[in-house]
Amino acid sequence: MTSSEQLWLEIDRFLATLDKTHAGVAKVRSRMAGLRDRRGSSLQRPANAPLCGGLAEALAAIEIDTAAPLARALANAGLHWESYRGYAADTIGPHFPKAHAYASLMAGADPDWACDFDLGFFLITPGTLYRDHHHPAPELYVPLTGPSQWRFGSGNGWAERQAGAIVWNPPNQVHATLVGAVPFLCLYAWTEQVHVPAKVDFSEDWKVIEAAS
Ligand SMILES: [Fe+2]
Repeated sequence: MTSSEQLWLEIDRFLATLDKTHAGVAKVRSRMAGLRDRRGSSLQRPANAPLCGGLAEALAAIEIDTAAPLARALANAGLHWESYRGYAADTIGPHFPKAHAYASLMAGADPDWACDFDLGFFLITPGTLYRDHHHPAPELYVPLTGPSQWRFGSGNGWAERQAGAIVWNPPNQVHATLVGAVPFLCLYAWTEQVHVPAKVDFSEDWKVIEAAS
């Protein structure tokens, strides 16, 4: 088994440790099961280090036992990290583009997004606000580190999520993530509409939050 196949397997095993009745988790596992022939293909893209740095620190911050095999597989997989380019620079802010990276397991295997599914890992450095945004893709996040702060709807209150929590964003639900002292590393999946980019939703409290982060 290649390191890429091992990673795919460990993602599925990790998801199986979560709430099996959760519709989002079930959906992602179902989509993964239908794409088994793609699971070894992500090594088509060259391995690199995320430009934002901090991957080793984030991996070291994974404390939940159920994610230990996944963390090892992730460290061994040699992923291709990149920045999300779907946002206009004047909306996402100057900090976020250099403070995050993601590694898609599908981008190399399915470059034209014919499968309409994305799965991978998302990294955000400490002290970063990922501003409010939405997208038509239903989205599963499972933070592997924590805690992190979340809000769903601009102007709504923040809620803390620990490592191993399930964060499910239905289509077009506005959401934001505030990363504190602990590096943020999570598993993510978009279960459909993956070709439609996300859009930022303005909130007047960004400047205050970012000044304090
Ligand atoms: Fe999102």
